[in-house]
Amino acid sequence: MSKILIDLSKDSTLPASWYHVGSQKLLNEILEEVPVKEVFLPQILTCLEEIHSLIKATSSHNLPTGLHLGRVGRLGALLAKKADLDWKERLECLYGGWIHDVGKIYIPENILNKPGRLTQEEYELIKGHVNYGCELLKDYPHLQPFIAPVKYHHERWDGNGYPHSLKGLDIPITGRIISLTDAYDAITSFRPYPPYQRTHEEAIQEIKRCAGSHFDPVLANLFCEIEVEEIENTV
Ligand SMILES: [Fe+2]
Ligand SMILES: [Fe+2]
Repeated sequence: MSKILIDLSKDSTLPASWYHVGSQKLLNEILEEVPVKEVFLPQILTCLEEIHSLIKATSSHNLPTGLHLGRVGRLGALLAKKADLDWKERLECLYGGWIHDVGKIYIPENILNKPGRLTQEEYELIKGHVNYGCELLKDYPHLQPFIAPVKYHHERWDGNGYPHSLKGLDIPITGRIISLTDAYDAITSFRPYPPYQRTHEEAIQEIKRCAGSHFDPVLANLFCEIEVEEIENTV
């Protein structure tokens, strides 16, 4: 493993239950490319501590959502690396992915955990998590550089997403990346209703089917090319 510039296994950064060797590897690779480290690293650490407090708050409201945040951020940074993005955009995917659903703190837990189909009213309520998250993050000015994945992760390539109905390349690339990794994690995670949990292969089929409608086709193709072992080591 490359040099550790910020140690995620320390209590001061992420809680032990949250330490993940994949997070450390992705963060190391990003930090290696950061210029003027003495200026940027303290800022990056401050942001991490704020993200840590948001992750803890989300996890204590709803643990499955907290764990989902971890996986989606890591997969986002992995896809951003495959897409050859620079260190800032890769960090935006990692950090922004870690907080993309923070607005779910305001959604009642019985709705988040509901076994079965949501009513239209419940679905509309859940959709509010995007704006709730952006509102909450106004109190965290350091985290503004990581807001795009929070704001745009439910936009769709064809313009039929929410809440802004942006289309194609108008959606910032970090939002398009987190939209993909969010969907992959949603498909492969356990749900308390059929089909319960789908496989990596089924998720890849679904992503291919939705490339060009739901997802950026170029990014979807790149994601589908990632080796399954690499994804398994990241989630
Ligand atoms: Fe979301
Ligand atoms: Fe999500």
